[in-house]
Amino acid sequence: MSLAHAEPNRLPWKEGSCPLMLAPMQGVTNRALRSLLIETVRPDLVFTEFMRVSGVSRKRLRKSDLRDIAAEQGGVPLVVQLVGYGVQPLVSAALLAQERGAVHINLNVGCPFGRMTTSPTGGALLQHPETLRELLPELRRVIQGSFSVKIRAGYDDPRQILGLLPLLEGSGVDFLVLHPRTVVQQYQGEADHGLTSEVVRATSLPVIANGDIRTAAGGHRLLQQTGAVGLMLGRGAIADPTLFQRLRNPDQPEPDKSERSRALRRYLHALIEGYAELFCGEKQVLDKLKKTLLWMDDPEWQPIFRKMKKARGLEQFRQLVDELV
Ligand SMILES: Cc1cc2nc3c(=O)[nH]c(=O)nc-3n(C[C@H](O)[C@H](O)[C@H](O)COP(=O)(O)O)c2cc1C
Repeated sequence: MSLAHAEPNRLPWKEGSCPLMLAPMQGVTNRALRSLLIETVRPDLVFTEFMRVSGVSRKRLRKSDLRDIAAEQGGVPLVVQLVGYGVQPLVSAALLAQERGAVHINLNVGCPFGRMTTSPTGGALLQHPETLRELLPELRRVIQGSFSVKIRAGYDDPRQILGLLPLLEGSGVDFLVLHPRTVVQQYQGEADHGLTSEVVRATSLPVIANGDIRTAAGGHRLLQQTGAVGLMLGRGAIADPTLFQRLRNPDQPEPDKSERSRALRRYLHALIEGYAELFCGEKQVLDKLKKTLLWMDDPEWQPIFRKMKKARGLEQFRQLVDELV
């Protein structure tokens, strides 16, 4: 029996609207960063960083991940993302996540680092489509809210996704987030959004376009050219969270240098405060702050970013933030 469309309107956004989502980024989009973005630019949907599902421990999810699970954060729907291998572990992790309050659950079928683990997880699942055939309907059966899949174009064949669409549809997946690079490609080259258009045309599932969205004009073009129902922003939003606002207000001009620097200083100071509350010890706070700098590529401030990456204490980091003018 096909499980597709068993229950309509499970999508975590208003039907007909164009959701702008914050991508899950392990080590980056933690609770504090999500909270700050929710307060300032309010994405329509946020994801947890991936939660690794243990294939051996009966607890399945780590304590720190369990603390992160909820149906929403600051009034914005929160999607809990699982990465793992094996029907039983993933099904029990999904059930546990629901017990802890999750409503929206996403399966990671893209992470390139799953290739290096003993059991194939994340993007490595694409090497084993037979596993997905078994796994997806079982997850659908237990997930009561939205069930989505975040997927790459293929393992090494960028057209693999087209062959997987009947399985995704027939398994009752509610929506797809497509990052159109292959797993082996990792982050090289460009995301092929020509493929996003093909996928949108070939499936009845709502498709969210993801990959290399760095400007509002680029995001709007992508929506128009592909017919995707929404966008997911990762590195572009970490570099400049105001991208969410500019995508929402197409008439808003790109900010000039003084606006950009003011927004950046405000963002980084708020992030320092948020990280100081969430993480323990100056070193950990500083390491986490430096991770966000990896994606800040505005050429104006590269010399200061370089100094910030070498900062030895929070006070020095704060002073350098004030030099971003
Ligand atoms: C540091 C880093 C961590 C990531 N962690 C995750 C993750 O936990 N789950 C996931 O599905 N994708 C993860 N991704 C992939 C992003 O969600 C996104 O698909 C990718 O960066 C492409 O989008 P972008 O060009 O907007 O960044 C990660 C990417 C980066 C750079």
